[in-house]
Formats: sequence, C-alpha cells, structure tokens
Amino acid sequence: MSETINVLISEEQIDQKIRELGERISRDYMGKSITLVGILKGASFFMCELAKRISVPVYVDFMSVSSYGNATKSSGVVRINKDLDDSIEGRDVIIVEDIIDSGRTLSYLTEMLAGRGASSIRVATLLDKPERRVVDFKPDYSGFTIPDTFVVGYGMDYGQRYRNLPYIGVVTLD
Ligand code: IMP
Ligand code: MG
Repeated sequence: MSETINVLISEEQIDQKIRELGERISRDYMGKSITLVGILKGASFFMCELAKRISVPVYVDFMSVSSYGNATKSSGVVRINKDLDDSIEGRDVIIVEDIIDSGRTLSYLTEMLAGRGASSIRVATLLDKPERRVVDFKPDYSGFTIPDTFVVGYGMDYGQRYRNLPYIGVVTLD
C-alpha cells in the first residue's frame, strides 16, 4: 500500500497568509510584547514563520501535550509531556497551534494557562476544521478553514512522516 499526497494549500498561499496574520497580530499588540507558546511538534514550523512576521517584541516557549484518558469524554483532559520553561505571569500569551480539530486540546490549555496569571491569552492556528468540533472553541487568529479531511505537511504528520513538506497536502491511501 502506498500513499499519495495531493496539495491542498500551496507554500505561496501559506507564506502570504502568515504575513497577513503577523501584520494583524503586530497591530493588535502595538506597544506590548508577546509570549508565543508553541504546541510541539506540529506547530513549530508555523510558529517560527509567524514569529518572523511579528514586529513587536516576541518571547518564545514550547509545550508538548498528548490526549489523556477517555477520548470520548468531552472534558478533554490533556497530559503535559513538556511544560513551559518560563513563567507566563503578567504576560500577553498567544498559544500557537497547527490545527484545531475537536477543540479539546486548546480549550483545556487556554484554561490551564489562564490559571497561571497571564494578562491575556489568545490562540493562533494555521488551520481550523470547525466541522469536527466536540468542544465549543474559536481561535482568535486562524489561517485557513478546511473541510473534514486529514492533512499533512508544514509541521503536521501522518505516523510522524511528512512534517517537512513545505505545503499542506491531503493523504490518500492507494
Ligand atoms: P484537538 O483539537 O484537541 O482534537 O487536537 C488537535 C490536534 O490533533 C492537532 O494539534 C494535531 O496534532 C492533531 N490533528 C488533528 N487533525 C489533524 C490532521 O488533519 N493532520 C494532522 N494532525 C491532526
Ligand atoms: Mg498538535
């Protein structure tokens, strides 16, 4: 069995969108600094490109999480595999994610990080699959809304492969 990857969003479209997001964020946070919190591993590619397009001071930190317990439970507890290195108390935080699917990860993380005394918490995601939502969650900054389909590339994987594709593609098994 082999896999074919069909391009859904090109490298040029992604670059252009990240520039736009960076400009919007820079305007929204004028006179402030931002702590970007990337969710490993998938969001790291998007986060680096986004950080370069933001013109206010930026701090970067990362977390690694995985789904925990009963996946059908809508509470959606996630396990922290790697926590932040630095305190976010008093910081304006933007959580950076590759894709929002059920919404469980981010609804849990935004509440958890809010409990640590951040001044503000917003979410930026490269992709959003709103049709798949189990928990009500809306990102503050979103690159592309896509249908209910499994995508790879630009940090996203299928069995840990394809993260390094410079575009976003759909996997077809044939
Ligand atoms: P959720 O919103 O809590 O369901 O989880 C979102 C996470 O699921 C993302 O950070 C990805 O790691 C993973 N994910 C969801 N959809 C896709 C996809 O189409 N391709 C690759 N990873 C995905
Ligand atoms: Mg992820």
